Amino acid sequence: MKKLRAAVIGLGVGEKHAEALAENADCELVALCDQDPQKLAQVASHFAGARAVEKDFEILDDPSIDLVCIASYDDMHFTQTMRALDHGKHVFVEKPFVVHEHEARAVRKQLEKHKDLRLSSNLILRRSPRFVDLHERIRRGDFGQLYHLEADYNYGRLEKITKGWRGRLDFYSAVHGGGVHVADLLMWLAGDRIIEVSAFGNAIVSAGSGFKNFDNVVAAVRFANGAVGKVGVNFGCVMPHFHPVEIYGTQATFINGRECAWLYTARDPETAPLRIGTDYPGVHKGDLIAGFVNSILGQGPADVSEEDVFASLSVCCAIERSAHAGVPVRVEYV
Ligand SMILES: NC(=O)c1ccc[n+]([C@@H]2O[C@H](COP(=O)([O-])OP(=O)(O)OC[C@H]3O[C@@H](n4cnc5c(N)ncnc54)[C@H](O)[C@@H]3O)[C@@H](O)[C@H]2O)c1
Repeated sequence: MKKLRAAVIGLGVGEKHAEALAENADCELVALCDQDPQKLAQVASHFAGARAVEKDFEILDDPSIDLVCIASYDDMHFTQTMRALDHGKHVFVEKPFVVHEHEARAVRKQLEKHKDLRLSSNLILRRSPRFVDLHERIRRGDFGQLYHLEADYNYGRLEKITKGWRGRLDFYSAVHGGGVHVADLLMWLAGDRIIEVSAFGNAIVSAGSGFKNFDNVVAAVRFANGAVGKVGVNFGCVMPHFHPVEIYGTQATFINGRECAWLYTARDPETAPLRIGTDYPGVHKGDLIAGFVNSILGQGPADVSEEDVFASLSVCCAIERSAHAGVPVRVEYV
């Protein structure tokens, strides 16, 4: 069988995509792109045989390329995705796959025109062994009925918005950039959709840095089946990167920690909780690519479906709108 000819645009986290493609038996990594010549040369030196280019159109318009991973700055994802689809390529695009709802609608239309093309996004928490284990326990019924789910994205990397490209963009959303991971995680765990949000935000930590949006947002969320919970995104926290996750069911409670998680199955304080020591985060940032390639080849579904990509962004748009307007917002699914 002919291998998929694959390329990567943007070589920060995109280097991880390149590693995953290079190791994938069904792919041939044929091109790498970065607008920064030094970055390009440094990363390309690890991938002999891949063409190194500085201009994205050399990949996007190249009819011989079947699959492109887009890991450029957030504000480039939309135009690059549209152009890649226009030129017949499958697209694995970093989160947030777009930054505005109208862009998501346009990508939807573009996919309707190109029904043979697949799209997915790097909502990588789904591959964390800790959360895979939790997902299995929930599906098995160990939790009974879920009634409260919460997760935060504690970034711990303030300098990325006060000093890096994120802070220089006209519009950068911590909700889209970080909250999308935990919004997706909660909906995947619940097997349910968030239908309404009520959010507040502030920018106390990044004040004076020039960052133009909230660096801290908390949203109360309501799920279709009656569960409620919280999505938090906290870019200014004084702690290393972490995802606090608490899942409450009628039969069990899960609390995530760094070294381990705890699973409570009784209210009795004498009953010790179960220690869950599965790896966390324990993922390589290219771990979703194999499943995406399989979906292209018709060998199984991608871990993150197109519907999941649109759904998590739709929730984030509602949270962003609610935090700025100060009113509850129903999620409009794109
Ligand atoms: N899924 C994850 O866990 C995860 C982790 C980190 C970053 N990301 C996402 O990946 C994207 C990149 O973030 P990063 O942390 O790797 O940033 P980065 O600054 O480390 O790397 C981005 C690279 O893309 C290049 N680039 C930007 N626009 C380009 C363009 N139009 N053409 C060619 N090259 C271009 C830059 O020169 C830079 O080298 C962001 O959208 C971010 O949200 C996702």
